[in-house]
Formats: sequence, C-alpha cells, structure tokens
Amino acid sequence: MASPISCLSILIIPLLVNSLFYDVSNADRALVEKICKKSMDYDFCLSIFLSDHEGLTNVLYNLGLVSTDVSLGIISDVNNGEIRNVLTRVTDPLDRRNILDCQTDIDDLYGDMQLAYNAPSTQSYAKEATYLASAQQKITKCNKRFEGPPKHESPISGNTSKITKLINISSVIVSIITSS
Ligand SMILES: *[C@@H]1O[C@H](CO)[C@@H](O)[C@H](O)[C@H]1NC(C)=O
Ligand SMILES: *[C@@H]1O[C@H](CO)[C@@H](O)[C@H](O)[C@H]1NC(C)=O
Repeated sequence: MASPISCLSILIIPLLVNSLFYDVSNADRALVEKICKKSMDYDFCLSIFLSDHEGLTNVLYNLGLVSTDVSLGIISDVNNGEIRNVLTRVTDPLDRRNILDCQTDIDDLYGDMQLAYNAPSTQSYAKEATYLASAQQKITKCNKRFEGPPKHESPISGNTSKITKLINISSVIVSIITSS
C-alpha cells in the first residue's frame, strides 16, 4: 500500500505546480497548456516551463528554446548524476554494461539536443525535427539494451523515461510550429 506521505505528495505536487502557474500571464498560460496537453505528461511538462519563469512568453519560438534549454540541463543531470548514482548500486555485470552503454547513448543524444536548440535560429524547423528524431532513436536504443536476451528489468527506466518526455515536449512544439 502507498504510504500516506506519497499519497499526500500526489495531491500536493500538482497543486503546487498549478498555483505557481497562476503567476503566469493568461496568454502565456494558454500556449503552455496547449503544448502540455499534447505532451506525454502534463504536470511534468508544466514543471519544465515553470522552472524557467523568465523565459515564459506567448511566443512558441521562445517556448521551444526554453524547453530545449531546460532539457539540456536535466539530461545532463540525469546522465551524470542520477544514472551514475544508480550505477554505484548495481552489481550485475550485464546491467552495468547496459547502463554504461546507455550513458554513451545519452551523451550522444545530448549532442542532438544541442543541435536541436540551435536549429530554430536559422529557421530550420525541419532540421530540428530530424535532430529530435535522432535523439529519440538513441533513448529507444538505450531502453532496448535491457530487452536482452536475457531480458533484464532496466534499473534506469524511471530516469530514461524523463528524457523521452523531454524530447516529446520539444517535438510537440516543433510540430505545432510547422503545422501552423
Ligand atoms: C508526444 O507524446 C504524446 C503522448 O504520448 C503523443 O501522442 C504525441 O504523438 C507525441 N508527440 C510528438 C510530436 O512526438
Ligand atoms: C533516477 O535515479 C535516481 C538515483 O540516482 C533515483 O533515486 C530516482 O528515483 C530515479 N528515477 C527518477 C524518476 O528520477
């Protein structure tokens, strides 16, 4: 059974995110909501934009830069902090090898995300979409490493799923820009 604390945080975290959101102007808010509703995880998506309050505008182009910029920081933390941390606890040799290979995949996709961040400045949204697709392929490749044989539960699935969600937010923005 879930602990009372975790039940409480399930209730409180979305409230917190939403109350912070009231500081944001209506126009900005409407656009951020539109993006986040199309993303994989609405609350996670809001938290990405709210982590850079200054960068919030009602211009899609700027929101795209904010989300990719915040993502670069998180991806770096996930790879060099969280996953490195998990590695200190994992003893199974195959798991260790898969995790180390995933760290390389994530370093590579960090490069794709940097290119994706720079693409809009030259109006290259098609290129940005290509870089994001390439980043997505690399995180998929990492997840597949644990499918075996033999199949092993990924000890870093929670960590890598954050990266998938981040790539998705940037992809949602590009798809809105290129379809309007
Ligand atoms: C983002 O994720 C949502 C929910 O899983 C999905 O429906 C959508 O196609 C994804 N968007 C892009 C552009 O990848
Ligand atoms: C990611 O890894 C850390 C360990 O470094 C762990 O504590 C955390 O719960 C993991 N998952 C997520 C979703 O952050």
